[in-house]
Amino acid sequence: MAEEFDEFEETELTADEAALLADLPELSELGEARRKFLGQAAALGLGAFALNLLAQEQVFAALETSPEAAFAPVTIENGVTVAMKINGAEKSLTVDSRMTLLDGLRERLELTGSKKGCDHGQCGACTVIVDGRRVLSCLTLAATCEGKSVTTIEGLANGDTLHPMQTAFIKHDGFQCGYCTPGQICSAVAMMNEAKNGEVSYVTSNVRTTAKNVKLSDDEIRERMSGNICRCGAYPNIVAAIQEVHSGRETAQTWNFHTPNNDLVEDKEDEKDATV
Ligand code: FES
Ligand code: FES
Repeated sequence: MAEEFDEFEETELTADEAALLADLPELSELGEARRKFLGQAAALGLGAFALNLLAQEQVFAALETSPEAAFAPVTIENGVTVAMKINGAEKSLTVDSRMTLLDGLRERLELTGSKKGCDHGQCGACTVIVDGRRVLSCLTLAATCEGKSVTTIEGLANGDTLHPMQTAFIKHDGFQCGYCTPGQICSAVAMMNEAKNGEVSYVTSNVRTTAKNVKLSDDEIRERMSGNICRCGAYPNIVAAIQEVHSGRETAQTWNFHTPNNDLVEDKEDEKDATV
């Protein structure tokens, strides 16, 4: 049988092997060199990062911001000055020619009522009224609004008096989280005008014989409001609110706040139960 191999047995180096080993740098030296290299690389990386930050700060400092600006714009390329009426007040803004009306309202004018849901024209959360018509502000370039009149949710109330559509949404509990609500209300207000002007929709039964002041059924309200998505599913209450404003037929409010008096009554009832 072959001799057993002892892995711990010391073997002698040949002269060539010993010479080769002597030429190699010490392992400890290798570790030192590696640490040094990593340290230098990190220092270089941080230096580049710091330089980049410094450059960005200089760009921000050089930018002129509107006194109404909520956030400094990153940069304005191809700036366009747009004058428009926003909620009844004349405004003049210099915006990047690619800036949307939604970003202009929210980021330059601090009108954050209009919401950015999808930013792709699919949810209606950004709906505002431009010259009496509802538009998706995420798909409207601010530069195209020169000379136009823009109404956002902030401009619907008259001082402390809410717009009837706002009141109806509260009365009918037409929202849950409220994210879609500014868009729903702006859309519904402009839709009232469409019905008044006799504009047709997909469910209009006869598009040849249209008249002014169209009476909208619940189905027609649903169809005309289908561009406004409510992720909370408050649709039945939204339709009820719009129908009340549209028809002028008042319906009873079906909910109420829990008042301290109610608590008192309930407490007394509890006490009565406890003594029986
Ligand atoms: Fe404009 Fe969704 S954010 S349609
Ligand atoms: Fe929440 Fe409509 S109330 S999305």
